[in-house]
Amino acid sequence: MKETNGESGNLVKRILLLPGDGIGPEVVDAARRVLQVAVDCTDRGLEFEEGLIGGAALERTGEPLPADTRVALDRVDAVLLGAVGSPRWDQAPVDKRPEKGLLELRATLGTFANLRPVRTYRPLLVASSLKPQVVDGVDIVVVRELTSDLYFGKPKERRGEPPNRSAVDTMYYHESEVERIARVAFELARERRKQVTSVDKANVLCASQLWREVVTEVAQEYPDVTLRHMLVDTAAMQLVRDPRQFDVLLTANMFGDILSDEAAILTGSIGMLPSASIGGRVGLYEPVHGSAPDLAGKDQANPLGTILSAAMMCRLSLGWPDIAEAIELAVADALNAGYHTPDLPGSPAFQVGTREMADVVIDYLERRLFANPTKRRSDRVSGKRQDLVQWEAG
Ligand code: IPM
Ligand code: MG
Repeated sequence: MKETNGESGNLVKRILLLPGDGIGPEVVDAARRVLQVAVDCTDRGLEFEEGLIGGAALERTGEPLPADTRVALDRVDAVLLGAVGSPRWDQAPVDKRPEKGLLELRATLGTFANLRPVRTYRPLLVASSLKPQVVDGVDIVVVRELTSDLYFGKPKERRGEPPNRSAVDTMYYHESEVERIARVAFELARERRKQVTSVDKANVLCASQLWREVVTEVAQEYPDVTLRHMLVDTAAMQLVRDPRQFDVLLTANMFGDILSDEAAILTGSIGMLPSASIGGRVGLYEPVHGSAPDLAGKDQANPLGTILSAAMMCRLSLGWPDIAEAIELAVADALNAGYHTPDLPGSPAFQVGTREMADVVIDYLERRLFANPTKRRSDRVSGKRQDLVQWEAG
């Protein structure tokens, strides 16, 4: 599945970095450094631009998605976002919260399809709350509709004063919105194990009944793909009972928000999970984890979700599948060698911080991209990464 038909070669691509809040700046910086090394090692070019979003933007401009950031969207090929959200704005009304910036960004770009791949890595299996034999080999992509449903349906408001306060959000879907996200799921399933599980609550909700009807109609065009409908409560249960039964999990916005966090933790750490939001003007790439304010500025956050999001960006928006694959393999190399951030299991001797984890990935990436390892920058090889030093020497 491709978001654009970008050509590889000498083209210079432009990326808008939106670090946002909490650990966002640290993990985005890690991914930026990985991308920079990837283009330095190949014949590609990248230019980075940085913008404000979320609480960081509210502080500086009073808006969660300021005009300068909106304007920058027209100049770039893709957007890489860290995280939004900060306890500082907990009491703020919904449209002055950091999260509003992200929702507006998705709506402005029109990125209606959110892809969240959930894959387990062997060295991390012990950290899963499920038995290793249940999660080993899990390979799911959650395809979540991102620009409609309860998040955007109108009316959406609070009404009245105490003791008569009430509030309403509207679960709304137009059939065209269901149809286009269903197509994304079926196309993706064709490149995978050819199974789509569509999640709804059609036994209760009108919007879900329409969802089920339209998904069934679209399925007629994909006779090679098996479609199953599953109620959302059953899906939540099956995800922890037997997650390997799922290939592509197609969901509406609200159910997808919930199920993708549940699916994410199967891998052992939500810090591992990347995402891509596509189908709009340009693709938006972000890790699934939030802003984790308690970890901010401590060099402890896991940058791998953001680095893997950057890999998805290379594949889906930049037309660089080779770099995407090299980054993904370098992440697996780092984990297989035992390196881990504090959220991941492993020996204390191999525990590294955010920056060093990125350095390790960069070292493995250079190994994969360079035929001649002497071109690697040995100044990054320090501290615990003795295996790399030995590898370089030998
Ligand atoms: C996500 C997040 C967002 C969402 C929040 C931050 C608005 O939870 O991307 O899953 O609900 O979509
Ligand atoms: Mg969420």
